[in-house]
Amino acid sequence: MKSSARKPIGIFDSGIGGLTVAHRIIRDFPDEDIVYFGDTAHLPYGDKSEELIRQYSLRISEFLIEKGCKLIVIACNTASSVAHDELVNSFGSGTYFVNVVDPAINGITAMADVSEVGIIGTQRTIGSDVYSLRIHRLKPEMQVRSLATPLLAPMIEAGFFNNKISRTVIEAYLNDPSLKSIQALILACTHYPLIKKQIHEFYRGYVRVFDSTDFISKEVGMILDLHGLRNDKKSMKNQFYVSDLTESFEKTTRLFFREEIVLEYYPLWEASKSLSL
Ligand code: DGL
Repeated sequence: MKSSARKPIGIFDSGIGGLTVAHRIIRDFPDEDIVYFGDTAHLPYGDKSEELIRQYSLRISEFLIEKGCKLIVIACNTASSVAHDELVNSFGSGTYFVNVVDPAINGITAMADVSEVGIIGTQRTIGSDVYSLRIHRLKPEMQVRSLATPLLAPMIEAGFFNNKISRTVIEAYLNDPSLKSIQALILACTHYPLIKKQIHEFYRGYVRVFDSTDFISKEVGMILDLHGLRNDKKSMKNQFYVSDLTESFEKTTRLFFREEIVLEYYPLWEASKSLSL
């Protein structure tokens, strides 16, 4: 086995939503070490400019590379939509990136029984049109109905899910006429797995519902195997860093990760003040 296979997998998000993706990767790859970075100081990314999201993503990727990561998973649809290509171009061929958009697109376009798909996500993800453009590249005949649902991530962060308020907001969005004849819906935000149950309840089986965690492991496994990077034994405790640490983040973490973890404050932006980030 290559010595680089022993290195950790880096995962990052605008905050703690990406922990849903981290949780799935840890479950599916128990021998891998994980370094997670949640940019809680800049949350949410969904309403930031593309330029700023790219700058944040570049700096976080540098940090994960400094931590020795062999592969970086962009566990945020917003950053995946607007920063993935720039990251690949900036760091060259020696650094491997996996975004959460392409695995979902590969998955959905491979489903022969889905001809019309809905996409819901942040303003920036939907505004980038990345899902629609890439789906059409692979399957031009597929109908794509994209809808920005900006209230959902803050609502979930504030602890409103599996209750009446979240049901009302979810229903208001999903009743949008543009989604009326979809056969599948992609939850294109890593916060949304927390409301997947209520979305299932809304559709009562008429629409298949997918989120980023449904597709990510296949892609991660493929990249690890392709480059001989699969580890066969954990050598450290998983590390979870955030750029701002408050009681509320610590509390919410449990909802996203479903297990006890310790968040560690890392002042990434202190060291970057000269870059005016
Ligand atoms: N988790 C982010 C995503 O997947 C959304 C939250 C945010 O706006 O930062 O897009």
